[in-house]
Amino acid sequence: MPKPADFWNDRFAAEEYIYGEAPNAFVRAAANTWCPGEQDILVLGAGEGRNAVFLAQQGHTVTAVDYSAEGLRKTIRLAGAADVDVTTLEADVREWTPDRTWNAVVTTFLHLPPADRPGLYTLIRRCLRPGGHLVAEWFRPEQRTEGYTSGGPPDADMMVTPDELREHFSGEGIEQLDVAEPTLNEGMHQGPGATVQFVWRRPE
Ligand SMILES: C[S@@+](CC[C@H](N)C(=O)[O-])C[C@H]1O[C@@H](n2cnc3c(N)ncnc32)[C@H](O)[C@@H]1O
Repeated sequence: MPKPADFWNDRFAAEEYIYGEAPNAFVRAAANTWCPGEQDILVLGAGEGRNAVFLAQQGHTVTAVDYSAEGLRKTIRLAGAADVDVTTLEADVREWTPDRTWNAVVTTFLHLPPADRPGLYTLIRRCLRPGGHLVAEWFRPEQRTEGYTSGGPPDADMMVTPDELREHFSGEGIEQLDVAEPTLNEGMHQGPGATVQFVWRRPE
């Protein structure tokens, strides 16, 4: 019986970092607003660890969650090469019940089917301390419907719209919600992409 993580374990089995070793550009820019070492950060769907390791290099305390053991193995390897600590946790975000909170949640391209996304948004809100920030980037449906070739899941319904985020995250907390078209340069993601870039602050 195949496990849900098999697809990603197969993809991450190669020794090369398929999304590269450098952080996602939106995460890098958002992290520039944080003082070094001030954040206790949860990275959801951390993959091979590029964002988690970058954030740890900024002195932050980082927990990386993913259901792919191969991704977490590469996260630990990347952290070792950078001489930083990242706590890894193998968990399926659709079932995981965290026993603590963080003052930031970071997630990039964690694409779930429509039925699972409300649960992801609830998890994110629960993981954040009051005043804490979510920094997130997903592909928008236009990534498929307008023929972009820079990656992402095959189905447009796996993508995220700004309206969906407005529905699940209170308006008072929205600090940035951009319909973006970045030029991606991150391993398999190359070239123009249709994304939504989101920063939300959990109200006190
Ligand atoms: C497109 S990759 C992005 C990886 C990383 N965020 C990055 O940008 O480099 C999607 C990641 O989400 C993880 N993922 C997908 N569904 C998940 C789930 N239900 N629970 C935990 N991780 C999941 C995959 O294992 C994979 O690492």
